[in-house]
Amino acid sequence: MRVVYKGKERDLRALWYQNESIRFIDQRVLPHRFEFRDAETVEDVAVFIEDMTVRGAPSIGAAGAYGMVLAEINGMDLNEAAERLKRTRPTAFDLFFAIDRMLAAANDGVDMVDAADDYVDEIAEKCRLIGEHGNAIIPDGARILTHCNAGALATIDYGTALAPIRAAHKAGKKIHVFVDETRPRLQGAALTSWELVQEGIPHDIIPDNAAGHFMQRGEIDLCIVGADRITASGDFANKIGTYEKAVCAKENNVPFYTAAPVSTFDFSLISGFDIPIEERSQDEVRYVGSELICPETATARNPSFDMTPAKFLTGIITEAGIFKPGELDQAKLQ
Ligand code: MRU
Repeated sequence: MRVVYKGKERDLRALWYQNESIRFIDQRVLPHRFEFRDAETVEDVAVFIEDMTVRGAPSIGAAGAYGMVLAEINGMDLNEAAERLKRTRPTAFDLFFAIDRMLAAANDGVDMVDAADDYVDEIAEKCRLIGEHGNAIIPDGARILTHCNAGALATIDYGTALAPIRAAHKAGKKIHVFVDETRPRLQGAALTSWELVQEGIPHDIIPDNAAGHFMQRGEIDLCIVGADRITASGDFANKIGTYEKAVCAKENNVPFYTAAPVSTFDFSLISGFDIPIEERSQDEVRYVGSELICPETATARNPSFDMTPAKFLTGIITEAGIFKPGELDQAKLQ
């Protein structure tokens, strides 16, 4: 991703390994501050995943992969490290996929830094391919809705849902993006909008509950969202609110796509109801920043994800092409 940092345009990833530590773009303080945070231990990585310094399914997976490198450097038992990292956030499959791959690499005697670097480079390349395939479904002039942040910050580079959007823009198509603000943590308003500003892609942030209104009036031509876990049937979990958008899209005949690399697919599950859904602190709902926005004694619920059944999907954009939910091809995605 090209970003302007200290007055210069640079090529950066959401996180990378350097000097026996992991450097993360601190996603909690964007868009107003551009800062880094360094992790030197497995516990640092686990806390950074929990407090959302790093977020988005493939980026969490990359953090887990490099976290296993730190475990080896610090002489920690690898199985204990894997358990600690896997306890951080339960929904995104990439974390489990990446850690299991690192355990297998350690077992095979592969150098851990090489294994993690290869894993992360592969994910970035798969996201670039998602962009190429997804560009084909975006007509010139398209008005596209996206939810949460499924851009480079969430995926090391390029993005999943944002990769086809970047590719379409680069190809000269005149597109316009509707960005759901994505309460309660505002990943759309804070992060997706920031990425689109860096790329000069025209967009409007809309309140989360406005998408149905724009679809009903014919102002949205297609929806592309990311995914945190996709089952073998095509049911998938993504940021809370995705399900509602998919139902509204079907009602209004608006095509609805999810985009994800192989690391997000959990072929051991069929029904999306078996995907564990993280519930985060009620204070993320009760406060905006440090401001309490409800009565002191009010309580809140805060599911971080919801599950969208495959029947609402037009297609799944992957590095191997675009599949209908019924024709997911496990072999092609390896
Ligand atoms: O809670 P977050 O910010 O980690 O949730 C992120 C999402 O829901 C993204 O849409 C998903 O991880 C796909 S990112 C490529």
